[in-house]
Amino acid sequence: MTSSSSLAASPFLAACHGQRPDHVPVWFMRQAGRSLPEYLKIREGTAMLDSCFETDMVVEITMQPVRRHGVDAAIFFSDIVVPLKAIGVDLDIVPGTGPVVADPIRTVGQLDQLRDLEPDDVSSITAAASALAHELGSTPLIGFAGAPFTLASYLVEGGPSRDHRRTKQMMYGEPDLWNELLGRIARIAGQFLRLQVEAGASAVQLFDSWAGTLSLADYQRYVQPHSAAVLDAVADLGVPRIHFGVGTGELLGAMTEAGADVTGVDWRVPLDEAVRRIGPDAIVQGNLDPTTLFAPTEVVHARAAEIIAEGAAARGHIFNLGHGVLPATDPDTLTRLVDFIHAQPVPGP
Ligand code: CP3
Repeated sequence: MTSSSSLAASPFLAACHGQRPDHVPVWFMRQAGRSLPEYLKIREGTAMLDSCFETDMVVEITMQPVRRHGVDAAIFFSDIVVPLKAIGVDLDIVPGTGPVVADPIRTVGQLDQLRDLEPDDVSSITAAASALAHELGSTPLIGFAGAPFTLASYLVEGGPSRDHRRTKQMMYGEPDLWNELLGRIARIAGQFLRLQVEAGASAVQLFDSWAGTLSLADYQRYVQPHSAAVLDAVADLGVPRIHFGVGTGELLGAMTEAGADVTGVDWRVPLDEAVRRIGPDAIVQGNLDPTTLFAPTEVVHARAAEIIAEGAAARGHIFNLGHGVLPATDPDTLTRLVDFIHAQPVPGP
């Protein structure tokens, strides 16, 4: 078997295509970094955003959880603000806080800095994706980008926000500026996904972490067309597109209609209920509450077994957490969970 045919037969890609693999595939959002001692060691002395442009570091950090846990997919080590940094937006990732933008975008005159992303802007990053595709062999590499709403929130607020007040102020009050801003972000995010796939990623995930702050009507009116543009930018490349948000139980149908092949579900909505909301062809990813990983092993595994049973309602199920791995998580808990999931029989339809 060539490596590309064994890649296509990987449990992760099979499930993304609605086939039933030998075991339920599993990977974890934020599996790279955070809880791993080998990650903390390699990152010593290098700022988060600098590390994302260091080819060797990106390769090593992406590989660490694959080696340690035996997960079914690698998530590219990067961040949602990396393409913005790559085109020269003045921003940083502040430890314990998140992305902070020096000059928050509030006026049309500030939009020029959001120029298109060119391959040269991210050549050290695409070099890492190529090296990883080679090193990973039959384990798929997932590329990713931040969705327009979530990135706009950081750009407009200037940093993390609880209520997204200024973002919504622009959305409701200056729709032309809003659409121009999200349109530009969508182009950048779409280009970033394309470049990762062309370099060797075999799936992509669009993270709309803060979309759950929107009503369905507002999501459809102000956000969905721009997220659809990002997903459409890679439609011709034939890779599965995962679309994920937090607190997005009311948006699952709309996020799928934006052009997702796989819908990410957080822990608030059981997977069988998610399938009812999306439709019988749903392929879902999720959805163990990340804080469950601090419970006794038998509780973690009992909950995981329930999620696998609930996932049987979908045409395909990729096991994941309902959001990212918390930094305090014991890595051994993740390894044991992967082993447990791999040992479970795949439920029939
Ligand atoms: O393991 C992975 O999933 C791979 C890489 C990854 C990172 N960020 C690395 C990172 C991914 C997929 C992201 C996506 C991301 N970044 C999202 C969407 C996913 C989500 O969790 O909702 C968002 C909203 C961001 C923005 C961001 N970057 C935040 C909120 C933070 C946390 C700040 C903190 O320290 O609490 C970051 C920093 C960040 N991104 C870290 C990592 C490993 C931690 C930085 C460090 O180790 O110094």
